[in-house]
Amino acid sequence: MVEIIPSILVKTKEEFLNKILAVENISERVHLDIADGIFVPNMTISGFEEVESIETNLKIDVHLMVSKPENHIIRWLETPVDSITFHIEATQKAQEIIEKAKEADRRVGIALNPETPISALATFIDQIDFVHFMTVEPGFYGGQFVESVLDKMSDFFYFYPDKPISVDGGVNPETAPKLIQAGANMLVAGSYIWNSGNITEAIEKIRNDI
Ligand code: DX5
Ligand code: ZN
Repeated sequence: MVEIIPSILVKTKEEFLNKILAVENISERVHLDIADGIFVPNMTISGFEEVESIETNLKIDVHLMVSKPENHIIRWLETPVDSITFHIEATQKAQEIIEKAKEADRRVGIALNPETPISALATFIDQIDFVHFMTVEPGFYGGQFVESVLDKMSDFFYFYPDKPISVDGGVNPETAPKLIQAGANMLVAGSYIWNSGNITEAIEKIRNDI
């Protein structure tokens, strides 16, 4: 069963609360984007306090678009997030991050930017719970879908058919079937659902087309 996960990329706590409220009864989980203005040219809420201060049944997957995620991981592991995704391009300490997340009993995924080859995952594949393929340049809602990632995902799926794949960027009813065809299990959707005017229908529309 493919999961469609709304993404939350916000600059204020108020926007965060509004988006949580908007999907609380629609989705089981949300994808929380954290951007530091260094790894990507955009800055969001820092996230820790916002996540700690809300009461919600939503599971939260945090996507760290930050430089040196090893400096943030301990603080995130104090929060109730369900999973942590970090970028392989942002760190030399992937092993350490994975071990910390696993010790804290969290799911952990590695994100790959559109141009980053699968080989960057090297020895980590067996240690992570999922791979997170970026299909846009990271940092913003509404980026340009990078079609060539479909081939990269298909290659990965061929070699690692059992490793869950999540996809992030430009998910809509047109791209979703291609992403599923290439092996994706989780589709993270931002601007398509937030701009739709009706989030339930937008998610259904993606689902109906896959
Ligand atoms: C992009 C973020 C995504 C973003 C997706 O850098 O990591 O999670 O919210 O937004 P759309 O679906 O608009 O590409
Ligand atoms: Zn994201």
